[in-house]
Amino acid sequence: MSPSEILEWFNQTPVDKPWSFTGCKPSDTGKWTHGYHRYPAKFIPQLVERLMDTYITNEPASINDPFMGCGTTVVSAISRGFHASGTDINKVAHLVTGAKAQAIHPDYLEEKVKRFLSQISCFEEAPGFFQVSQVKPHIPEKHLERIDYWFTGSVRDKLGKILSLILAETDPVVQSFLLVAFSHVLKTCSIWSQGSTKPTRDMKKRPTPPYHAIKRHLLKMLRGNAQFYDVVLPQVKDNPDNYLNLQIGSATTQAVPDDSVDLIISSSPYVTSYEYADVHQLSTLWLDLADDLKAYRKQFIGTSYKQYEDKSLLSQIASEIVDGMVPKSKKKAKEIEAFFIDMQEVFNESFRILKPGGRCCYVIGNTKLRGVPILNAEAFAESLQYSGFKLDRLIKREIPLKILPQKRDEKTGRFASKDKADAEAYPTEYIVIGLKE
Ligand SMILES: C[S@@+](CC[C@H](N)C(=O)[O-])C[C@H]1O[C@@H](n2cnc3c(N)ncnc32)[C@H](O)[C@@H]1O
Repeated sequence: MSPSEILEWFNQTPVDKPWSFTGCKPSDTGKWTHGYHRYPAKFIPQLVERLMDTYITNEPASINDPFMGCGTTVVSAISRGFHASGTDINKVAHLVTGAKAQAIHPDYLEEKVKRFLSQISCFEEAPGFFQVSQVKPHIPEKHLERIDYWFTGSVRDKLGKILSLILAETDPVVQSFLLVAFSHVLKTCSIWSQGSTKPTRDMKKRPTPPYHAIKRHLLKMLRGNAQFYDVVLPQVKDNPDNYLNLQIGSATTQAVPDDSVDLIISSSPYVTSYEYADVHQLSTLWLDLADDLKAYRKQFIGTSYKQYEDKSLLSQIASEIVDGMVPKSKKKAKEIEAFFIDMQEVFNESFRILKPGGRCCYVIGNTKLRGVPILNAEAFAESLQYSGFKLDRLIKREIPLKILPQKRDEKTGRFASKDKADAEAYPTEYIVIGLKE
């Protein structure tokens, strides 16, 4: 299809109501292990499941997500006994997805969690206990200054001791489970403004005491694991490594063989919206996941820290978006250009790993930056063709407000604060589906 035919196709495509999942409750979207960790712009599992219902005809299939995030696609694939591969440049995403994809025997896990909670309950019952038992807080020395920026001294020390005990856990699967709980509660235990995804301090915030936060969350995770354990097939539970291939790395170069995947289900980052490296900064600091935050940020697609001088765009639609931005901001125009260049490389990689007859499904919305419409979905559709795909289907879906992860600020394109988001609805998105013939 030519760029003008693509634009026409998008204009003519009506909202496909059943893909809005209006009846879904938080208990549906957060079922199994899906509620382990907050993650900006994560999928709802129902969307991934319907795509698998529609396009998987051979079982056990192989499913991939080049931007796996907190692993909605991976977990859904594992729940069906499929092979799942996923990549993300964010080390927190790798930790979370790894834990969510593991169904652990509920009795064994409960025992482990009980023992862990009884160790850390000493914070509440006898505050002096830890001095007596001499648990040394594990606080990464090189990030001490940043940690002190976000945490009060007593909370920091308690968290450090909790982390010490988690790192002493010898079963790596249980250790990851505990680390995910630890990572999830960091925000509520810090003075990071609770309603904000951006790194903003709230000096009036009363951080939740670490023991309470982690206990409550671990009990929730235990319930999620038990539900998940019931649905995962025995052969997958016994040999998870045979079914899982999770990598920290770039979506442009995945460690996945040629012609091996049946279906890709993914949602890319957006240009200069979330700085994922910053969003997960607390976990990155505590778990010591990046020596150099600046260099780490640059590896993320969609970051405002990236520009190319030596590569050019193929998509005409993307080039027009870039041209539209130049009069407003040359810097932003270069960032948008870098984003679409990167995405072209991601689509080339998707084509390489798919089997002939396989499909890629990219979930993406359009936005506005400095008043310039950013037609991500149309540019993706055009770019998929340059990677060799045939455009197979376009689904336009409404995002019901109650399951909308967050909406975007019209002006900046960034995800808006909760109050603002109500006024600036971001109600539809697309699933752009390419077929490798
Ligand atoms: C919209 S989120 C994906 C959310 C996911 N669908 C889920 O349900 O959790 C986009 C992801 O792309 C990741 N990302 C950004 N740049 C990347 C890159 N160069 N390679 C791989 N992943 C990247 C981000 O870390 C983020 O996790």
